[in-house]
Formats: sequence, structure tokens, C-alpha cells
Amino acid sequence: MCGIVGYVGHRDAVPVLLEGLHRLEYRGYDSAGVALVHRGRLKVHKAAVRVRELREQVGKAPGVVGIAHTRWATHGEVTDVNAHPHTDTSGRFAVVHNGIVENSDELRAKLQASGVTLVSETDTEALSHLIAAAAESHETLEEAVRAALRGVEGTYGLVVLDARRPTELVVARNGSPIVLGVGEGEMFIASDVAALVRHTQRVVYLEDGEIATVRAGDFQTTGREETVELADEDYQLGEFTDFMRKEMAEQPEAVRRALRGRLDSRFATAHLGGLRLDPRDLRDVRRVKFLGCGTAYYAGQIGANLVEELARIPADAEPASEFRYRNPVVDSDTLYVAISQSGETLDTLAAVQELKRKGGNVIGAVNVVGSAVARECGSGVFLHAGPEVSVASTKAFTNMTVSFAMLALLLGRVRDLSAAHGSRLVTALQALPDQIASILEADDEVAAIASKYAQAQHMFFIGRVRGWPVAREGAQKLKEISYVHAEAYQAAELKHGPLALIDAQMPSVVVVPQDELLAKNIGTIEQIKARGGPVIAVTNASLPEGLADAVIQVPRNEPELDPILLTIPLQMLAYHVAAALGRDIDKPRNLAKSVTVE
Ligand code: AGP
Repeated sequence: MCGIVGYVGHRDAVPVLLEGLHRLEYRGYDSAGVALVHRGRLKVHKAAVRVRELREQVGKAPGVVGIAHTRWATHGEVTDVNAHPHTDTSGRFAVVHNGIVENSDELRAKLQASGVTLVSETDTEALSHLIAAAAESHETLEEAVRAALRGVEGTYGLVVLDARRPTELVVARNGSPIVLGVGEGEMFIASDVAALVRHTQRVVYLEDGEIATVRAGDFQTTGREETVELADEDYQLGEFTDFMRKEMAEQPEAVRRALRGRLDSRFATAHLGGLRLDPRDLRDVRRVKFLGCGTAYYAGQIGANLVEELARIPADAEPASEFRYRNPVVDSDTLYVAISQSGETLDTLAAVQELKRKGGNVIGAVNVVGSAVARECGSGVFLHAGPEVSVASTKAFTNMTVSFAMLALLLGRVRDLSAAHGSRLVTALQALPDQIASILEADDEVAAIASKYAQAQHMFFIGRVRGWPVAREGAQKLKEISYVHAEAYQAAELKHGPLALIDAQMPSVVVVPQDELLAKNIGTIEQIKARGGPVIAVTNASLPEGLADAVIQVPRNEPELDPILLTIPLQMLAYHVAAALGRDIDKPRNLAKSVTVE
């Protein structure tokens, strides 16, 4: 989604701003722009182009203060004029904005009625005119921005540049992240630390509702300075051709990080100190509800199954986007788990806020430290997957499921899960990194299967019980990066309708765990084969010879952990289908890495 970069300091702003935008490209965008002040004049370059092309257009424009933006269209088409920064009529103020101004129609109409000519179709342009109008009666830029924002409804992460005050930038946050990077006599601003870590690890996250003035040598915010443990290399491809491949390959190490210091072999349980729940609190939990969007929601479904299996308390998962709008019954005995890689997904954040408003007990399962969901929850489990750049979530998904296995183990061990069973699970969790590494080694094999089926127009992903969320995540991965239509179905539901679609052109990927439902899953494969449908089985069982057209084998572990291992080949399959079709794997069309709008 949209990206923001700002700089005020002593060096040429353009390279800092454009490099920052480049780091944010992975979030998805359709146009880009930059505004600089030089000798008291504002200069804006913006167009519906990639950052690379913007770089050519801007050239060596001078200026030691500036703002920049990558836009992901919400209000108005993808055009040069609609790109950010937006300015007021006099060309004195420039604004970059992430989020959505909900009352922009009303604001634009009022501005037009007062004689202002709006040149773009965006909500953001209204902000620049409002700030300009407020500046006439306020002494400082910060006061003018504060006054202008009083009439604004919606979400924003905002940076404002005033040509008459080239030593400062004003930032504001409401629902869209803004982070300051503290340098030596220079300050960096961004919507994501990825744009800053090349220059500094010292950061300050703006709080919601906060407005601040940032100068090269000083700033005042309510948030404390923190040090982020991220380096520029974390955002580099290295030997890999794309980030999805890199991040899939990082999964063994990511899982090791997620497990580190959290498993207790002696008491056969897990330590999740970030939950801030003692055994008595854990025992009081009567229900667990997982909330997330897309892949995070499917991870939550795996989490819910694990909690029910290991702790024997009711658990379910729901898309956060549905939960927030349906006036949910919030129950004080339920532990709500908000799941998000980015920690910035608006629907998930809004679900957390709704829960807190109703007095719900909500913890986060978040990858990005300092993100909005993590901060709003205040307690939870950090995923420790490391930065995830590719739009397609892989290692974060895996670490979500591993974290939920630990949560379920912990909830189980304060109840009736035996020490022997707990011990088996501790050992099983410790085995995961090497097992994932061994699955990843079968890359050529999966690539060959993918190339055989890459021309299919549609695919089914079939699973039941433990395999069902795995099938859903497999279908999700395939459609988002390869654009092949994929639908997930519960195995037993096939015969209630979708079986009519099975023919030689409709491959089915069937998830077959080695569990008590094995015979039933074999029966499902036979039903598909009897109708001429090709079958790719993903399994840790020994299937009868010739049953499926292709088999991807994964190692066995404790059955409760099967979903974690069975998902890895589905990531690989999606990746190789997308590669065979020549897709832009890290930046699938129409999608963004963090969905910070409705
Ligand atoms: C994952 O591959 C997708 N790009 C998407 O479904 C994603 O998981 C979803 O938007 C939630 O993102 P989050 O984890 O950052 O909240």
C-alpha cells in the first residue's frame, strides 16, 4: 500500500527519499512522487510511474528537506495528477498521506464553495488546501496542521512540508503508521522502518492522534526512542531472484527463532512471557478466538484446531474484517488473538480496537515489533520471522502456526494435557526446522509437478479437519501469485456440488495427513480419479502406488503439527506455477503487502 518517506538534514534529500521509496516498493503502488524545497520554492515531481522512472525524472534536484510517496489508488484513478505529494493552490504546502479521508467529498465541496480549485480527484488534496487555509490564522505549521485535521474524519499518516519553513516537517498519525528515524543532525521519516534502517536503527513510533514537528536536530513526541534489530541486508535479495523464494528458504531459521527460549523440556510446556498471563489466568480462559485476514486468518484456523486438540477448550477463527463489522458478542472469558504479519492491517487493527472498547482480553500474534496491532494489544507473541517483503506471506504464516502450537501446548499443560504428550510435542516442535529444510530440498521435484499443471485454468485444493486450513492457504497462495483460479473445499463437501466440476482439466491438490482420516482421504482421491480428475497428493502417509498422479511427500511428526509441514509444499507449488507463468512473484497485480485501508 502507500508508502511515505521524509527527510530533513544536511545531505541531498533526493537520494535519501528515492532510496527510501525503493525500499517500500514491495508494499505495492501505482504512482510515485517527491517534493523538495530549495531556495524557498517548492518543487514537485510526480507521475504514475515506477520509482526507477521517477528517479530519472527528478535527476539531481537540489534540497536538504523533502517528502516522497508511493501511491496505491483509493480515491481517483491512477494518473500523474492524482499521485502524491499534493499541494495547495499557491504551491507553498505539500502533503503526502497514507490512509483514507472519509469525509473528503464534504471537505472538497466546502473548499470548492469557498473558491478553491481542486486539480485532482483525491481525498489528500483537500488536506493541503485545508492546511494552507489554517496557516493564515496560526503561527506555526504544527498548529495549522492540528487545526486543519480537526475537521477531518478517517485515517492518516501524514507529512507536511512548507516552502517557507525549510528546516522542519510536520508529521501526524491516526490509524496509519509513521515512524521517525533519528540520525546525527538529521531526521528520517517513513511509514515503515524498511525505509529507514539503511540510515539508522534509532526509531520513534508516533502514537495515534499525535502531531509533531520534526527538525534536523530535534523533535518532540510522546513515544520513546527504541532501537530496532533490523539491518538493510534484511531487505536485500542476496543470492535469490525474488523475496518469496528467499523467505521460503529462511523458514527453518525463522522457526528456530520463534522457538528459541520458549520451550521447556523439564515441564513439557512452553514459555510465552509476552502474554503476561499466569497459569491462573490461563486456566480462566474458556474459549479462544483467532482473528486475522487472508493468510493470517488461515493460520488462525490452524491455531484454533491446535487449541481444541491440545487444550480441549472451544476455539475458532474468524476474518477480522467480518468480526469488526458484525457487532460481536465479546465475552470476558474468551482469549482473543489478533494475528498479523505487518501489524498494520486496518481490519485487524479495527477488530482489536472494537474488542478493547468492549473490554475483551486481546493479545497479538504479530511479526513487526512496534506496529499498530502490537502496540494496541500491548501483550502477545512476537513471531520473530524477520522482515517479510514479498506480498505472499510464507515464513510469517509458518511462524504464526508454530506460535499457536506453543500457545496450545501452554493452554493444554495448565489443563489436562499429560506431561508425556507435552514432552512429545516439545520434541516435535524442536524437529520442525530440520524437517522444513528437508521439504525445501525437494524443490526440483515440486517445480516439475508445477510445470506439468501450470497451464490449468482452475485448481481445487481439498482437505479435511487438519488438512482443511492447509488447503485454504494453498489455494490462497496459488491464486494471489499465479492468478490461477483456485478454490479450497472440505473433502466431504465435494460430493455435495463441486464434484460436478471435476474433469481432466481440473487438477485437485489433496492434502492427506497420516491420521485417523487417512482412509477417508484416500476415498476422496478415488472419487476424483473416477471422474478423470488429475490429483496431486501432498502427504506424510504412504499412499497406495499409482493412487495419485503426483505425490509430494513430507516427513512425519506428531499429527497435531501436520498442518505446519503440509503447507510448505503448497507454498513451493504456488511459487513454481507462478514462475512457470512468468508472473511478477513479489508484486502480484492489485495486491499490497500491508492493507492499511478498508
Ligand atoms: C498473504 O499471502 C496475503 N498477502 C494476505 O492474505 C495477508 O496475509 C493479509 O493481508 C494479512 O496481512 P497481515 O498478516 O500483515 O495482517
